[in-house]
Amino acid sequence: MHGQIVSLGITKNQVQELLSYTKSDPQIRKFTHDAKRFKSLESFEKWVLGKYIYTLSDKNGKLLGVAWFAFKANPQAIEFPFTFAIRIYPPARGQGYSEKLMRAAFEKFMKSDKYLESQQKGFWLVTRRDNKFAIKLYEKFGFITKITTEDNHLLMTFSPS
Ligand SMILES: CC(C)(COP(=O)(O)OP(=O)(O)OC[C@H]1O[C@@H](n2cnc3c(N)ncnc32)[C@H](O)[C@@H]1OP(=O)(O)O)[C@@H](O)C(=O)NCCC(=O)NCCS
Repeated sequence: MHGQIVSLGITKNQVQELLSYTKSDPQIRKFTHDAKRFKSLESFEKWVLGKYIYTLSDKNGKLLGVAWFAFKANPQAIEFPFTFAIRIYPPARGQGYSEKLMRAAFEKFMKSDKYLESQQKGFWLVTRRDNKFAIKLYEKFGFITKITTEDNHLLMTFSPS
């Protein structure tokens, strides 16, 4: 990547940027539950416990996007112990960053002790069925649809080879 950096963790300034994008961006509000989980600094700080957050930043440290993993069971995909999510914020959107962030984040996370210690290695995520850009990204990466839920969401899973 030219001038963009993927790193583990998020700075205080970047948390403020994340909270602000969450408030202002219609796509985040439509396609995610971030308005709730990132409602305030307090809710962010509660949520962040146990998460592995990877940020995509520009050379000045501005937040371009975020991806996270958690060790979290889904009753409909118990053999896939880790969950994954990604956001690319408006100024950086539509420029191909999502795939780069996703690849870099997975590469880094899969070297972490948490991942290496786990016997089961799979990932799951949930996305809205009409979130075409996200579904395309996940399928390109190797996620497959396991279930389409009644409320029009897809449960997708990925088993690294
Ligand atoms: C979904 C998301 C992560 C994609 O990130 P991105 O960096 O903007 O996507 P990319 O630039 O890599 O584009 C991926 C594909 O979608 C297309 N695309 C992405 N955003 C687009 C837009 N606003 N308009 C038109 N096409 C778009 C790109 O053309 C590209 O297609 P290609 O592979 O044929 O070139 C980002 O749009 C986002 O954060 N959306 C809001 C939050 C969200 O929905 N997260 C996922 C929840 S499950």
